[in-house]
Amino acid sequence: MDNKPDRREFIEKAIFLAGSTFCASCAPAFFSACEYIQEKPIPTMTERTREHIVDLNSFPELNEIGGAISKSFGKPFAGRPIIIIRKEKGTEDDFSIFSSICPHQGGEIILNEELGKNHWCLEHYSEYDFISGENLVPPDSEPDFKDPLVKLKYEHYPEENKLKFYY
Ligand code: FES
Repeated sequence: MDNKPDRREFIEKAIFLAGSTFCASCAPAFFSACEYIQEKPIPTMTERTREHIVDLNSFPELNEIGGAISKSFGKPFAGRPIIIIRKEKGTEDDFSIFSSICPHQGGEIILNEELGKNHWCLEHYSEYDFISGENLVPPDSEPDFKDPLVKLKYEHYPEENKLKFYY
């Protein structure tokens, strides 16, 4: 007697049962993980708490109004440069600090060291205000894109001539 169809049927049922059991046991964990992802939004820049301290004695250009640097500080933004601009002296908001990662598609923002000129992204030629980081000229590939540069929160300690920024 040929029992091949029975064996095939048995194997198909076994596979179906194994798959059903697996799904039944994994589904709750899978869906609760999805809920977790949905409930944990990516923190905005103002919510970020990692910090880095800059000794301004190492950057004499930042002691003068209009002075600016674009420099990697290691860990922050995986080593991509941070742009720091000295815009005032003796106020509560003496600096502008930006990520040099273009908010459009991640190109590198080039620091324009002359006060009053704009930052440039050479990827699609967008321009950002030197002090405020506002988007002045959108990327040539997306004229409706108006996001500003990502501005970093900071604290200034004039007595120690240090700057702490958050990333
Ligand atoms: S990546 Fe900067 S303008 Fe597109």
